[in-house]
Amino acid sequence: MGLIAVLVTALCVLTLLDSPPQLPDPPADPPPTPGGVPPGTRSIVAYSWARRLALDYRPSKECDGNGTYGTTLNTFKLADEKWLETIPGQLFLYSAHLDLRVAGYPSLRVIGVKRGPLPTSALFCTVWYEEEDRGRAVSVEALVSTIWLEEWGETVDSYAGILVGCQLPPDAAIEPSKVYVGLEPCHQNASHSLAIKKEASSRGEAGETRRRQFTLCIKGLDFDEDISGKIVAFVELHRILGAELFYFYVLNVHENVLRVLRLYERSNVIRWFNLTLPGDLPNEKVSRRRFLSENIWIKRRMELIPYNHCFYDNLHRSEFVVPIDIDEAIVPSRRKSWHELLLDERIKLGRGFKDFASYAVRNAYFFPELQARNRSDYDTSGDDNSTDIPADFNYLMDTVRTACISPEGDSVKSFVSTRRALTVHNHYALTALNPSTRRAHHFDPEDVLKHHHRACDETHLDCDALMEDVRIDESALRYSNELRRRMRVVFADLRTFA
Ligand SMILES: *[C@@H]1O[C@H](CO)[C@@H](O)[C@H](O)[C@H]1NC(C)=O
Ligand SMILES: *[C@@H]1O[C@H](CO)[C@@H](O)[C@H](O)[C@H]1NC(C)=O
Ligand SMILES: *[C@@H]1O[C@H](CO)[C@@H](O)[C@H](O)[C@H]1NC(C)=O
Ligand SMILES: *[C@@H]1O[C@H](CO)[C@@H](O)[C@H](O)[C@H]1NC(C)=O
Ligand SMILES: *[C@@H]1O[C@H](CO)[C@@H](O)[C@H](O)[C@H]1NC(C)=O
Repeated sequence: MGLIAVLVTALCVLTLLDSPPQLPDPPADPPPTPGGVPPGTRSIVAYSWARRLALDYRPSKECDGNGTYGTTLNTFKLADEKWLETIPGQLFLYSAHLDLRVAGYPSLRVIGVKRGPLPTSALFCTVWYEEEDRGRAVSVEALVSTIWLEEWGETVDSYAGILVGCQLPPDAAIEPSKVYVGLEPCHQNASHSLAIKKEASSRGEAGETRRRQFTLCIKGLDFDEDISGKIVAFVELHRILGAELFYFYVLNVHENVLRVLRLYERSNVIRWFNLTLPGDLPNEKVSRRRFLSENIWIKRRMELIPYNHCFYDNLHRSEFVVPIDIDEAIVPSRRKSWHELLLDERIKLGRGFKDFASYAVRNAYFFPELQARNRSDYDTSGDDNSTDIPADFNYLMDTVRTACISPEGDSVKSFVSTRRALTVHNHYALTALNPSTRRAHHFDPEDVLKHHHRACDETHLDCDALMEDVRIDESALRYSNELRRRMRVVFADLRTFA
């Protein structure tokens, strides 16, 4: 058994060797200390975090507001999909979020994009509070980190996502309403700033009182063809599995896909956002698509903006966010739902569960080329022949996969903990809030696999070798009847309402 596992892993590594810009695995975790946890480790860990908080702490200073704030406060609304440019050609802000996770250290997290090196002098956050009629502004030095790992290569002259931390005064009784990040402390123009979503009030919204368990994040869709059937299948399968809310980002989609997004938006199943690229990057459909396909590293870095927006927008509202693509599904093999899967893992890891910022599911390819061989399996297994749902959903019900399971860290998709992660990558948590938290724990592939339904890409994979050894995997078929039932309801609604 052990030998087979080694051979299978070796095969996978070999087949993946010549993939061009394959992201490396997260650095290996330090080997476990023999004889269990040495005495004192816990307190050292706690100390190192306290020390980091202390090092990161920046005092804030009151700005003299002379009325400008109060008059402009209610007049400005930041248009969605627009970036707030605060250093011309160099710094573009996307969104701002309140982070109340560390007791006594409230902060703002501003997501943005920088181009090239930022000025060596400090950047400052100007934070506005709305107090009855008048406003109040404070200024604090900004802490900037790049949403990327240095070992993944040069971002020096290019565009890269950044996370800006703005430490808030711990005693502020009210939530800040706007923020600006730029070169000058105490920025004067409150109209030129990002609005901050209210945490306190949103908790009172209908349907928002309970913390969701799973929220899915889907990066900018860019498809001319009508993939509405696929989207419905993707959403409904993942709702069966346990996803409660979906954040979709849109670059360009077919009108029928917009109808699906709008229908789900009305029932609070989907939130969606039009997405643009910042700065002088192209935003006309065709040139943007060409640009992104020719600049794969910029594409990858820009994809992290919606993922991190989705993460921070759900920070206090969802326990996990899951960055995922519409040709993927996270399917447990023994359990029926993600909730049960995570519960098992909590029991298995005990207190160690909380040592990780994300829980990664390993990848298996369900190449469509393989399915033809076994297509008859499920085409006849359906309990009805209704033609009122498109056949698109079938792709998620495929049953033939490569025997090879991608190595840990490669092509995984993760449940990212909103309590423990600081930044998110499409595969796992990129950095953790507490520096002693580890990036990712991998599930046993016997328990769950990420089904990847995509054609084999000869330039990245050794397709012949991968397809030589296949397995029948019917784990997704268990959901087939319920999926059909749900899809029928959605398509009936679409015909009626949209
Ligand atoms: C606003 O504040 C600045 C600096 O604090 C001050 O120089 C200026 O005179 C004030 N303007 C008004 C209209 O009060
Ligand atoms: C303040 O910012 C707004 C929005 O960017 C801009 O239209 C306006 O001209 C700015 N006002 C001043 C005084 O700079
Ligand atoms: C996205 O853009 C389209 C077309 O301009 C618009 O109809 C739609 O309302 C926008 N969506 C959102 C969520 O703002
Ligand atoms: C197709 O699936 C059946 C079981 O459902 C299996 O017996 C058969 O070997 C499969 N065919 C291929 C080519 O894998
Ligand atoms: C589905 O179609 C097949 C052949 O067209 C037919 O034999 C079968 O009875 C149908 N099943 C149902 C449930 O209508």
